[in-house]
Amino acid sequence: MKQLLEQLKAIVGPKGWTTDPTDLEARLTEWRGVANGATPIAVFPASTDEVAAVVCACADAEVAIVPQGGNTGMCAGAVPDASGEQVIVSLARMNRIRDVDAANFSMEVEAGCLLENVQTAASNVDRFFALSLSAEGSCQIGGNLSTNAGGINVVRYGTARAQVLGIEAVLADGTIVSGLRSLRKDTAGYDLKQLFIGSEGTLGIITAATLKLFPRPAAISTVLLAIDSSGDAVRLLGLLRNALADSIEAFELISDFVFGLVESHIPDTRLPFEQRAPWYVLLDVAIGDNNELLQAVLGNAVNEGLVRDAVVAKNSMEAGRLWRMRHSIAEAEKAHGKSLKHDIAVPISRMEEFLRRGDELLKNLAPDIQLIAFGHVGDGNLHYNVALPAGSEAGVQVSHAIYDLVNELGGSFSAEHGVGATKRELLPKYRSESEIRLMRTLKTALDPKNILNPGKVI
Ligand code: FAD
Ligand code: MLT
Ligand code: ZN
Repeated sequence: MKQLLEQLKAIVGPKGWTTDPTDLEARLTEWRGVANGATPIAVFPASTDEVAAVVCACADAEVAIVPQGGNTGMCAGAVPDASGEQVIVSLARMNRIRDVDAANFSMEVEAGCLLENVQTAASNVDRFFALSLSAEGSCQIGGNLSTNAGGINVVRYGTARAQVLGIEAVLADGTIVSGLRSLRKDTAGYDLKQLFIGSEGTLGIITAATLKLFPRPAAISTVLLAIDSSGDAVRLLGLLRNALADSIEAFELISDFVFGLVESHIPDTRLPFEQRAPWYVLLDVAIGDNNELLQAVLGNAVNEGLVRDAVVAKNSMEAGRLWRMRHSIAEAEKAHGKSLKHDIAVPISRMEEFLRRGDELLKNLAPDIQLIAFGHVGDGNLHYNVALPAGSEAGVQVSHAIYDLVNELGGSFSAEHGVGATKRELLPKYRSESEIRLMRTLKTALDPKNILNPGKVI
C-alpha cells in the first residue's frame, strides 16, 4: 500500500491528494451519518488521463477505488468501507464546462461540475438543463449520472439518464472509453453510455458527459394546493396533465406532518394557509402568460372537490418561499432525528392503494410510528420514510413489509437514490435471478478484479 500511495501522489501532484484526517472526515461519512468508513488517501485527479493513471496503479496493486462526487448520496455509495484499504477518487477538480453548443442544444461538461453550475451555464446561453434537486448546490453531475438521479422535474423531462447524449468513462483497467457524441440519433452498436449511468461507480468512473439541453420553459407559475387525500393528488395529476399536458414541470406531494417538521426546524418557514390540510401538492406549471387557463383548470379541480384551497405565487419571491419549504424537507427530517428512508416507486395508478395499505401495515406493525411522506408523485416516486420511537426494534420488519408491498404493486425499492451499500441486500430479493445473473456477468466482464466500488450495488 505504501508504494501505491507514493505512486498516486506522483500521478496527481501536490495539490491532488490528502491524507489529513480533518480533510478526510466529511468524505468518510454518509450525509445523514448512517455509514462511516476509513481510507488511507483521497486523490483529486485534474484530468481524464490522471484518472486513468490512478485506476491503472490501483488495478496493478489490486486496491479498491471508491469514486466520489459531492457525497450527497443517500445510500452510502460514495463512502469507503471500514477496512481503511479503499482509495477515494474524487472528481472535484474536474469541474470545467468544456463546451456549450446552444445551436445543438447540448453541452460537454466534466464530471466534477456542480449540478448548479451546469444549470447556470445552460441558462447563460438561454437554454435549460432539466435536472434539479435539493442538493444541486453540492452534488456533482458525475454523481447525478452515476445514481441516475431524479428530483423534481422528472414528470416532464425524465431522470438523469434522459439528459445524456454521450459519456466519457475510465474502465477498471484504466482504458478511457470516449463516447462524447452530441447526437440525438445514433444506433451504431450498443448504447454503452447507459452502462455507466445508474451503476454507481461499479462499472467505470465517469469523467465527462455530453448533456441534452432544452429551450427555456415558458414563465412558470408556482402553486400550492391544499388537498384532503393522497387519492385526490393522483386524480388531480390526471386532470392537470389532461388540461395542461407537458407544461407541468413539477408535481410534488407533501404531508402536513412533513411541512410541520420544516416549520419546526427551518427558520422563516410557514405555510400560507389559514387552515391546515392533510396533504399539499406543490406544482410548477410553465403556463407563460396564459393565467386564465390555469385559473380555469384550478377552478375545475375545486369544483370536482379535489382541491380545498390554493395559493398561486404572485412573484418569484413568493415562489421561492414555497420551494424553499420543499427543498428543506431532507434537512428538517435530519434535524428531527433518525428515520428509515424508503425511496419507493409504484405505478401512479397504484399510489393511492400503496398509501392506504401502507398506513394499515404501519398501524399493525408499529402504531407509534411517525410517517414522513413526501415526494415526486408526478412520476410515481414517494419518500415513504418512517421515524420510530427510541428503542423500537420494529425497523427491519417495517422496512421489509413496505418493500414487499411495493413489490406486490409492481414497484421498486429504489426509485432515485440507488442501491449503494445500504440497500445492497434488497437487490437479489426484488430482482429476478436472471436479472441478477446478467448484472453479475456485466460486473465481472468490466471489472474482473472487483476494484471499482466493491461492496456497492451487487
Ligand atoms: P456521491 O454521493 O458522491 O456518489 C453517489 C454514487 O455515485 C456513489 O456510488 C459514487 O461512488 C458514485 N459516483 C460519484 N461520482 C462518480 C463518477 N464521476 N463516476 C462514477 N461513479 C461516481 N437524489 C435524487 O435522485 N433526487 C432528489 O430529489 C434528491 N434530493 C436530495 C436532497 C438532499 C438534501 C440530499 C442531501 C440528497 C438528495 N438526493 C437526491 C441524493 C443525491 O443528491 C443524489 O443521489 C446525487 O445524484 C448524488 O450526487 P453526488 O455528486 O453527491 O454523488
Ligand atoms: C428529496 O426529494 O428531497 C430527496 O430525495 C431527499 C430525501 O429523500 O430525503
Ligand atoms: Zn427525492
